[in-house]
Amino acid sequence: MKQNIKILIIEDDDGSREALLILLKASGFTVKGCSSGKDGLDFLAGEPFDIVISDLFLPDMNGIDILSRVKQDSPRTEVILVTGHGSAETAVQAMKKGAYDYITKPLNIDELRIIIDKAVEKGQLVSENVYLKKQLREKYEFANIIGNSQAMQQLFSRMQRIIKTDSTVLILGESGTGKELVAKAIHFNGNRKDKPFIAVNCSAIPENLLESELFGHAKGAFTGAVKEKVGKFEAANYGTIFLDEIGTLPMHLQTKLLRVLQEQEVERVGSNKQIKLDVRVVSATNVNLEEEVARGNFREDLFYRLNVIPVQIPPLRERVEDILPLTKHFLEKNCRAMQRPIMHLDKEALEALEAYPWNGNVRELENIMERIVALTESDVITLRDLPANIAKNYIEGSHSTSVTPAGIDMVQAINEIEKRMITEALQLSGGVKARAAVMLSINRTTLVEKMRRLGMQL
Ligand SMILES: Nc1ncnc2c1ncn2[C@@H]1O[C@H](COP(=O)(O)OP(=O)(O)OP(=O)(O)O)[C@@H](O)[C@H]1O
Ligand SMILES: [Mg+2]
Repeated sequence: MKQNIKILIIEDDDGSREALLILLKASGFTVKGCSSGKDGLDFLAGEPFDIVISDLFLPDMNGIDILSRVKQDSPRTEVILVTGHGSAETAVQAMKKGAYDYITKPLNIDELRIIIDKAVEKGQLVSENVYLKKQLREKYEFANIIGNSQAMQQLFSRMQRIIKTDSTVLILGESGTGKELVAKAIHFNGNRKDKPFIAVNCSAIPENLLESELFGHAKGAFTGAVKEKVGKFEAANYGTIFLDEIGTLPMHLQTKLLRVLQEQEVERVGSNKQIKLDVRVVSATNVNLEEEVARGNFREDLFYRLNVIPVQIPPLRERVEDILPLTKHFLEKNCRAMQRPIMHLDKEALEALEAYPWNGNVRELENIMERIVALTESDVITLRDLPANIAKNYIEGSHSTSVTPAGIDMVQAINEIEKRMITEALQLSGGVKARAAVMLSINRTTLVEKMRRLGMQL
């Protein structure tokens, strides 16, 4: 582990440098040493180091110059300065400029080791943070929001314009249509992307806590307020606050929210100090806010404040073209996660997915695909691998058995009935043909024969 930590020692005093080299190598670090500032910077230009331990006073340069060069060229490298007796003042100055810490001569190796360990930990945290942020950004790239339909293409071009602004956005759509995904994509692709994205689900927080959750409170503001609390608005400063399920916000908080949006200032509960805000507000709801306004449940003036740019995400059943690309996307994602070959849908299974009304929208489709990847052995997904309600909806919807003056193909209709019953029986039997045959009161060979004749996957 420690061999992975690379330390550069810049020290003109040969004795001190050698002693440090030996001690740190013995502690397991990968260490290099050099005797001048110039050599040190040359080393740093050639390869990355996690930590630089530099003497504050070198013949050709001082440690502060080295510090600023390191921080400029390689911000993740931590710098520890070594000072002679009496120059601690300068070392403190150096810390203000970004040095990690300083240590005075004569060196105490235990103390140095502790400082190094902490610097390493900090460096790791910083890179983890950079990594996580990068991951987040990739996750919410537009390319990961799937949608070929015209409605989604229009939504993407609207989003391209929205990310260039700071305007307030209201995202509307049924449950599971991707409101939160769109809110995050707006934040992580806009110019606030390096600032916080704070989500508040207004319906998940008990009403009596929501006010201080959103706006914070002063110490002693109410019983139980033992410490002061920073509200979500303050926490989101310079970034974006995502007010999810805004339709459930109680009236008195609607009034307070309106004031915060108008004044662009927040006052913590129980305090009269105004705190300036620069927060982008994105809210979302699956209720029809205009109707709520008409019913007197939602303030009209707040509705207009929030609804500066509306973004409507249509339900999945209204954009059937998106079902195939979404299904492929989720299949790929889950198959990759489970390290199996990418699965495919056969024609009938796709037709069944396209015929289903998807009341739970994309979330329902996503969950079903995850389940199918986990439970289906074959790499081809057929009708009978789909949940029973989806298969049933398809079979019932696609084939009428009533005779009309226009006529009916009786043989085909009977085939379809047989097919449906076999599919249902196989679903109930978990694919075990012998059990399905028992349920249908036929023998297994008849079942297999029928399946072959009907062109069903055996
Ligand atoms: N167009 C899309 N492309 C890829 N994934 C999507 C898409 N739309 C939604 N999803 C995924 O579907 C799931 C549900 O989306 P999300 O949570 O954003 O929906 P929501 O509208 O906020 O739902 P709710 O109203 O229930 O909170 C998430 O896992 C999301 O990543
Ligand atoms: Mg949501």
